[in-house]
Amino acid sequence: MKVTIVLALLCAGAHAATELTATPFLGATESKFGPTIEGAAVDKAGNIYAVDFDNNIATAGSVTGPQKQLFKAPDAEALINGIRFAVDKSGAEEAYVVDAKLHQVYRLSGQRGADGTFANSGVFCKDSTMLQPNDIAIAPSTGRIFLSGMNYTADSVIGNGDLWTCGADGVAKRLGQFYRTNGIEVSPDEKTLYLSEAENKKGAVTMNRVLAFDLDAATGETKNKRVFVDFGELDKSAATDIDGMRTDVSGNLYVTRNGIGKVSVFDPSGKLTATISTPSIDSITNLEFGGPAGTDLYMVGKCKDTPAKGCVDVLKGQAVGNALKRLGGGGGSTKCGQ
Ligand SMILES: *[C@@H]1O[C@H](CO)[C@@H](O)[C@H](O)[C@H]1NC(C)=O
Repeated sequence: MKVTIVLALLCAGAHAATELTATPFLGATESKFGPTIEGAAVDKAGNIYAVDFDNNIATAGSVTGPQKQLFKAPDAEALINGIRFAVDKSGAEEAYVVDAKLHQVYRLSGQRGADGTFANSGVFCKDSTMLQPNDIAIAPSTGRIFLSGMNYTADSVIGNGDLWTCGADGVAKRLGQFYRTNGIEVSPDEKTLYLSEAENKKGAVTMNRVLAFDLDAATGETKNKRVFVDFGELDKSAATDIDGMRTDVSGNLYVTRNGIGKVSVFDPSGKLTATISTPSIDSITNLEFGGPAGTDLYMVGKCKDTPAKGCVDVLKGQAVGNALKRLGGGGGSTKCGQ
């Protein structure tokens, strides 16, 4: 019964922010992921994937089900980070994986084998002047992808953060320059792009905020930049970096706070409605909804008890994720009536 009350509070959003605690899913002993586990992503079946599989930053693998390799970048220099699955015009599943070191995005396509790997992989878009890319978002109606990236310096300048887009033609275009950018997400109606921005001064992190833009999913054009949430003003946590961000089907935004093992949840108006703490994870890097119904929120990061490993926590049944629904999977609901 206690659970019902918590759900009601989260759904209504009319009270002070609800405090929720995730449960351990993948601990240090069984995890095949290294400490830079990142880029949580969901496929059409609801399986969750992440990078730093086999303790290798050039490799992605599955978090749920048997832990297996999904993709290994052909170049050992690669540093893969964000992942997103998509469906192409013919309805076939594909995946995009970003490479922060070689300034490119791989596209995985073709028949998936029994082990989940794709038949084909190749470079989809690239530009040597991209700062990274770090994370990736997608507008499924057009297949257009959006990329963040940063140059971590002691004193941030505009230009230490990037926003790029690649259309279905694979042509990369810079949309803007910022202080350091990292988390990136497209709203369920594809009308808003969210992007995190952080500033350093004299070696200390002094600002962390989420920007929102009006988005044209066809052209990638971003307009009307505004501050969606500023963590310095919200809860004096300006010094804690934002990492991955995801939306649920109602347009709520889930923002990871790397370094304090916490996720902050905002409604579409920018009001804080909940915080989620991760018992096994200190530095939470990314998150995604998965599971067969799309209602399980997986959060990944460095293990609290074993910093040389990557851990995963899960919070079940609070909301329906957006990414899985976009792929045509999921179909779950919660007591919120989503
Ligand atoms: C990153 O910033 C440093 C210090 O300002 C600068 O020297 C370097 O060229 C920058 N790197 C890129 C790729 O912009």
